Amino acid sequence: MPERPYPALGTLLVVNGQHHDDQPNAAKTKAVLSGIQPTGAVHLGNYLGALRWWVDFQDRYNAFYCVVDLHALTVPGDPAELSRATLTMATLLMAAGLGPERCTLFVQSHVHEHAELAWLLECTASMGELSRMTQFKDKSSKESEESARVGLFAYPVLMAADILLYQADLVPVGDDQRQHLELTRDLAQRWNARYGETFTVPEAAIPPAGGGARIMDLQDPVHKMSKSSASDAGLISLFDDPKVIERKIKRAVTDLDPPGPGAVRWGPQAKPGVSNLLELLATLRGGKPDDIAAGYESYGKLKSDAAEAVLELVVPLQERYRELARDPGAVRSVLAVGASRAGEVAARTMDAARSAIGLLPR
Ligand code: TRP
Repeated sequence: MPERPYPALGTLLVVNGQHHDDQPNAAKTKAVLSGIQPTGAVHLGNYLGALRWWVDFQDRYNAFYCVVDLHALTVPGDPAELSRATLTMATLLMAAGLGPERCTLFVQSHVHEHAELAWLLECTASMGELSRMTQFKDKSSKESEESARVGLFAYPVLMAADILLYQADLVPVGDDQRQHLELTRDLAQRWNARYGETFTVPEAAIPPAGGGARIMDLQDPVHKMSKSSASDAGLISLFDDPKVIERKIKRAVTDLDPPGPGAVRWGPQAKPGVSNLLELLATLRGGKPDDIAAGYESYGKLKSDAAEAVLELVVPLQERYRELARDPGAVRSVLAVGASRAGEVAARTMDAARSAIGLLPR
């Protein structure tokens, strides 16, 4: 797989809403942390909006990446499936290019300090601020607030613990996590003011427009590609068979404008389906969506080029996944190394946090 099948990401960074000139940082003096849930298959939107940034960041920063299995417990699930999905996700992350010599890759529950610091932070956060988290409101209203798990309510605090344990400067996340990052910053600042400087106050690193953060559902292009989409036809999983991927892209919703000059144009409002395909091409191959549009007269050619670009990414990734999956023991030993490396850093922060908040040393 080419090292970078996508445009260089460096200068595209948006930190807390402002463009940020991100210089390659050979000394890796800044720390980055991010997490991904071991739920279901990763889709193309996740990959383009998040994972490829992780891959890019590992050579610029001291990067910690975890599969957040404890977060998966916030909603109902099958225990046997959880451990399988955790290993699958770790394998996929390695297939995408995360390497033990380039970053620290681990499983959240292997480092017990995550749960431990989460408790101290739960005693720092207020009911009011957690009640205002929109993701909790969305997810809990799907069942009912009455039966929603306490863990679902406290979810953002565990996420804050993930981040603060590693003194992360930057947290690459999708736009939907912005509010959780704000909460993390608030908690770190409140704690530091109350108990003394303990935590680095992190910044969110959110992909800017054109950074792949807004890949839309192929069947419903006004909504983001998401695991919770109504139909599978709009969602490209990284595990989909290449033929299925090709078919899904060829059947993507466009519109009824007759073919000819000007039919293929950029405009997410007027032509959301066509714009999404242009965005896909631009994200995968570089260039600006409106410039790319000028090269097309028909939707068919646009679709076949978009499919080709997606397959150029997905096919080698799947090959690499299959190779790694043949030796799960090797993946697990990468995770073991990651857990011990992460554990050292986490233990240091945890000691500082315990002493700051007044727990008696044993
Ligand atoms: N909440 C994140 C999501 O759903 C996953 C996550 C858990 C995370 N802990 C994290 C992301 C720490 C960044 C940093 O996408």
